[in-house]
Amino acid sequence: MKKIVLALSVCCIALVAHAEFPETDYAQVSPDGKVAVASVNPEATRIAMEVVKRGGNAVDAAISVAFALGVVDGHNSGIGGGCFILVRLADGRILALDGREMAPAAATRDMYIVNGKADPELSRTGALAVGIPGSVAALDKLQKLGGKLTFRDVILPAADLAEKGFPISPALAERIAATADNLAKFPASAAIYLDKNNQPLPAFSILQQKDLAATYRAIAKQGPRYFYHGDFAKKTGRWMAANGGVITDKDFASYQMKMRKPIVSEFAGYTLYGFPPPSSGGVHVAQILNILEQFDLDTLAPAERYHLIAEAMKFAFADRAHWLGDSDFTKVPLSLADKRYAQTIAKKISLEKTTADIAHGNPDVDIQHLMNKHTTHIAAADMEGNWVAITSTVNTSFGSKVVIPGTGVVLNNQMDDFSAQVGAANAFGLVGSDANAVAAKKRPLSSMSPTLVFKNNEPVMTLGAAGGPTIISQVVQTLLYSLNDSMPVEKAMAQARIHQQWNPNVLFVEAAMPVEIQQALQKKGHDLKIWPSMGASQAIQLRDGKLVPVAEPRVILQN
Ligand code: GLY
Repeated sequence: MKKIVLALSVCCIALVAHAEFPETDYAQVSPDGKVAVASVNPEATRIAMEVVKRGGNAVDAAISVAFALGVVDGHNSGIGGGCFILVRLADGRILALDGREMAPAAATRDMYIVNGKADPELSRTGALAVGIPGSVAALDKLQKLGGKLTFRDVILPAADLAEKGFPISPALAERIAATADNLAKFPASAAIYLDKNNQPLPAFSILQQKDLAATYRAIAKQGPRYFYHGDFAKKTGRWMAANGGVITDKDFASYQMKMRKPIVSEFAGYTLYGFPPPSSGGVHVAQILNILEQFDLDTLAPAERYHLIAEAMKFAFADRAHWLGDSDFTKVPLSLADKRYAQTIAKKISLEKTTADIAHGNPDVDIQHLMNKHTTHIAAADMEGNWVAITSTVNTSFGSKVVIPGTGVVLNNQMDDFSAQVGAANAFGLVGSDANAVAAKKRPLSSMSPTLVFKNNEPVMTLGAAGGPTIISQVVQTLLYSLNDSMPVEKAMAQARIHQQWNPNVLFVEAAMPVEIQQALQKKGHDLKIWPSMGASQAIQLRDGKLVPVAEPRVILQN
């Protein structure tokens, strides 16, 4: 496949200016050049660099960021949620750690159905929305597998930050204000994020979280036992029983972190490792890239190329709705990521016109939710050969909005990622089949796509993204531009992004896309929805023997 699509790079004006030298407060390399970290928050990245100074490697650094983000970016991720971790350890092992939430033992298929219809409030806000969090178990496992320091060493800096406090960023203040009505329903949540009159804390006021600090310190001292078998589990079980929930302390005790087999695929001469079910990310990133490579990408005009990307996404998301779910409960055909399957889809794609929508209804979709940068991605790498990709989430902003009194921990609303009813859309407009129906101890389907890239068996990139189903689209586009078109990853990330998820049958396009391309896409039959800014990716690329970390320029501008 030839490299560089000149027409595309010339026409496709970047959304935001990308620095020639991409190191920022969000994306840093240690002074000796040996460890690099990229996150959505400068305090979290600073903490990682302190951990490195004390002898930590990329694994330690990434874990310290995960705990720190639970303090400064708790609307997106934290120990009340789940994560997927892809890691290439210095000894060459490539491992996939599944810390996704599990449904409680009392969960039932129709638990969100009221009068024959799925009630989204139940799966999004309050006690029933919460899945058993997996992040603590997965981060602990990662630490044991590849860290140089102790779990305690990488948690305590975040505990100190929670105690000391930090100024609320404009982006966090906006999320607090947007969710204040629901946060006000839960006194322990209101006590953190709202003032005495239940008004949202404003930007630049200092947010201290003493309860969260105490929870972190207890985990640092007692290990994950405190969370899954100790006080945290007991307090949560008691609160749930008193507040209409079904989670018990036994659900915590039976939580299982699982090791999975990564999805391995080839694209543009590189080998990609993606996350398997219960994430749909690895399967569909591979599937979309497989479809794209069936075409001579280098000869396509920019509008044709965007059209092709959109069509490939649409076919992949239609498959997602039908086939994907927790592979411990349903047979997921991993041949979706097979090159031969991509050939059959490619034959259905016309470069002239968008294919008609394929069956299924178009339930109302909350586009705000779809386009908000929920979730977070952490990239870390070191010169010893540890490459880490962690995507972590509490699902939508502040998850269920529940904080169990005395813990300071925001609990997820990951149960909304199940398909509450066939044809009913979740917060991101995604629909699903029986494959993703609610069941006891099952894991809800995810779009999180932590990805590792190898050339000749050596790691050259770690990346991932935040933003619900746009995660898949962002990762695909970053890989397309950086691997096929040989753009530096910061330039690849700065290209105008698109997203098409089959339902709704709309092509989301960033406003930076030149108008003539937008018009050409409309002529091909796409229903365009222009959006100012889409997603939040983080990556680290090995370039000329150096680690180059890149944080999302859109997030940096927003903060
Ligand atoms: N909660 C968003 C996802 O896992 O895709």
